[in-house]
Amino acid sequence: MSAQREPVGVIGVGWVGLVTAVCFAELGHEVVARDILADKVDSLARGETTIHEPGLEEMLRRNAERITFTTEMPELLERARLLFVCVDTPPTYSGDADLSRVRAVVDELPADSEHVLIMKSTVPAGTGHSIRRDRPGLPYVSCPEFLKEGTAVADFMDPDRVVIGADGGDEAAADAVAALYEPLPGETLRTDVASAEMIKLASNAFLATKISFINEIANVCEEVGADVGEVAAGMGLDERIGSSFLRAGIGYGGSCFPKDVKALKMLAGNTGYHFQLLNAVIEVNELQKRRVVGKLEQHLGSLLGKRIALLGLAFKPDTDDMREASSLVLAARLQGEGAEVVAYDPVASERAGELLDSVEMAGSALEALDGADAAVLVTEWREFAELDWSEAATRMGRALLVDGRNFLDPARLAEAGFEYEGIGKAPRGAPASASKS
Ligand code: UGA
Repeated sequence: MSAQREPVGVIGVGWVGLVTAVCFAELGHEVVARDILADKVDSLARGETTIHEPGLEEMLRRNAERITFTTEMPELLERARLLFVCVDTPPTYSGDADLSRVRAVVDELPADSEHVLIMKSTVPAGTGHSIRRDRPGLPYVSCPEFLKEGTAVADFMDPDRVVIGADGGDEAAADAVAALYEPLPGETLRTDVASAEMIKLASNAFLATKISFINEIANVCEEVGADVGEVAAGMGLDERIGSSFLRAGIGYGGSCFPKDVKALKMLAGNTGYHFQLLNAVIEVNELQKRRVVGKLEQHLGSLLGKRIALLGLAFKPDTDDMREASSLVLAARLQGEGAEVVAYDPVASERAGELLDSVEMAGSALEALDGADAAVLVTEWREFAELDWSEAATRMGRALLVDGRNFLDPARLAEAGFEYEGIGKAPRGAPASASKS
């Protein structure tokens, strides 16, 4: 068997695990993927993905004969030597990453195991060392993932970089992992385990810092009459800064940034180091989600009894993931001010409905806007750019829109009859002389 065609084992078939399993199958590998949830395994075996990720379900079906989904660890261990650990590492009450699922996987490996443990789960730096200490004979490779939800398949197939960390004695294991990624473009960086673990945490923390930074710049832009879009464009032309992740808005969310920034802060704290910058990054992000409420109050006065429509609920477009979505905080804050909240999301409504108390779910954007005193664009779904905003204006009690992602064209919205407020830019459109409601 050639190294490139070695079977691949995947443990934990969440977002990362499923994308990893399906993409390795697409590259021609036999894949055995194990999850403890029987329902999930059953639906995946039927070719139905449990998450909304563009391109994934088609790829799964195309490669179905190469992938086995199972709940049985012995089956996985018998068929695959290379084991990608993709279980989740949620935050504990202390803010540290919960490694119990990772530990459970290690405990399931027999003492004389000849497998290679490849850590894709995001773990604190030092985890690899501690696992190697506990299981000295077990080859251990850190291979952090950098996939973005919504473009995960494309990111896997065309990575910016692949990071492979291994310590002395595990070079052959690291070579085997490198061989799996060999057909893909992008640079492969070989490091020690602790550095690979830090690359992952530092990358997410840096991106989150960029977002909080541009959000603070946006807030200052509002004070001095500048436009944060222009400012970000000008900054981004400097190669040292780069233009990505400078989109101001109502803060970052998702299953990764909030958790990983906190985990890095706690990791540093546990060693006695006070990571001051990350405290600010976290606090700015918390406050940013709430700024929209102030903007609405400037226009509407008290929000008591006002009907506010949220357009988009997922933490970003092209996903139904609601984890740490800004919409959750926003909806609760609006309700706290006495507003009536109605919401629409093209794919996340069902998941959101389980999390949002007393929020009315609409079947379309126009339905959500019907009779609303104001709308907030929370998630930049493409369909909102294509909405008939003139029609929307006539349906609303007051055509007021706060664009929490600076996604829509202010001039077009003003033309459609809207009072438009973005983040970090001058408001557009004439205030309505009187509310229709
Ligand atoms: C993030 C990283 O981008 C991935 O590289 C990493 O692999 C992943 O976390 C992970 O650790 O698993 P993801 O959470 O899918 O990926 O989402 P991003 O596209 O990075 O967006 C995160 C949040 O930041 C979203 O709420 C988005 O709306 C917000 N964001 C992003 C901004 O507010 N402004 C920006 O300029 C960019």
